[in-house]
Amino acid sequence: MPEPTRSAPSPAEPPAGHPAGFPGGPALFRLDPRVAHLNHGSFGAVPLPVQETQAALRAEAHADPDAFFLSVPDRLAAARARIAAHLAADPDGLAFVSNATEGANLALDAVPLADGDEILVTDHGYGTVVAAAARRAPVTTVALDPHLPDEDAVRETVLAALTPRTRVAVLDHISSPTARIIASPRLLADLRERGVTTVVDGAHAPGMLAHPLAGGADFWFGNLHKWGYAPSGSAVLAVAPQHRPRVRALVPSWEDHHGFPRSVENRATADYTGWLAAPDGLDLIERLDAAKVRAHNSALAAHGAALLADIPGLTPLPHTDGLAMRALLLPPGVAETPDGARALREELAARLRVRVLIWPRQGGGGIRVCGQIYNRPGEYARLAAALPEYLGRAVSRA
Ligand SMILES: Cc1ncc(COP(=O)(O)O)c(C=O)c1O
Repeated sequence: MPEPTRSAPSPAEPPAGHPAGFPGGPALFRLDPRVAHLNHGSFGAVPLPVQETQAALRAEAHADPDAFFLSVPDRLAAARARIAAHLAADPDGLAFVSNATEGANLALDAVPLADGDEILVTDHGYGTVVAAAARRAPVTTVALDPHLPDEDAVRETVLAALTPRTRVAVLDHISSPTARIIASPRLLADLRERGVTTVVDGAHAPGMLAHPLAGGADFWFGNLHKWGYAPSGSAVLAVAPQHRPRVRALVPSWEDHHGFPRSVENRATADYTGWLAAPDGLDLIERLDAAKVRAHNSALAAHGAALLADIPGLTPLPHTDGLAMRALLLPPGVAETPDGARALREELAARLRVRVLIWPRQGGGGIRVCGQIYNRPGEYARLAAALPEYLGRAVSRA
């Protein structure tokens, strides 16, 4: 009997157990194909149709600057309304800002504080956001063991760290290094009940979560330029009604008398094209089928993490299903300092052409992989196959 012919799986049919690629995903971006971009969570990436919208807006501004700039306030209001519809936010309580860091500073500037009041942050918090809190008042930093099993354990740890002087809690919605949900709706409700004002860093939420504003924080900010496919420098700040009158632009403008949100959006003769193009990013996710995009991205991140978890010495951290980022701890001696983490990250980028986040931690740093519609399973396999050798070198360097 003749041997049955066996054909190699085509690229459209991944081997069993591998998540399939998102059809047409890579073609929507113009990323360097030699590089495995497994770090969407840091800077995002702008799809070509959104780049084209922004380029057309720039051309319009250059063709007739007077007409363009005079039309900006009305067009921003329209763009804001489109973003609000995507996020299920109140358009009157939402303002465009340049990034999460600016949102944090605006929010913290608006919270009423007296001498002796304290702000609670966690050790998973993003550096610039924690710095914004520390500039405003003394901070108490809650250490969250990265192995805490679930949102309830996180919630109990945060609540146990409150002091009678805690007035504000600044919490990640999804933490950057560890990809954990910290500001769960239940934790926010418990803090509200205790009279603590909540400021939520939702840098990773728009485009990654189906309901990014579900928790009902006093202040919430989120980047559109990470998972929302928007141009760089696009973010939003959402403010609960009772706090809106206290929100002041960091730099006063001619629009100050309009109050929030218009007052904080005006930056005189700045480049507004990113904000005006930003709704196209969220529209694109809807057109691609947002649920499918989310399912694909989280399956791919899970696949990448599973491959890395097979490497001796790597420990997967607890995760929340559905997120497009996963984190693992590296072995002792690797990335224990910021310099060590940077050296490993840069070596992986330069020699292996793989972009990932490596974060520092005493006792062994961490690695975070992301999933996005332009990624393919083979990119994670390339990282997993080569990483042991790089870890060995990192330990011998330390
Ligand atoms: C959780 C978190 N917060 C804040 C930021 C800061 O964002 P931006 O640089 O846009 O201000 C980041 C950036 O990666 C982040 O991951």
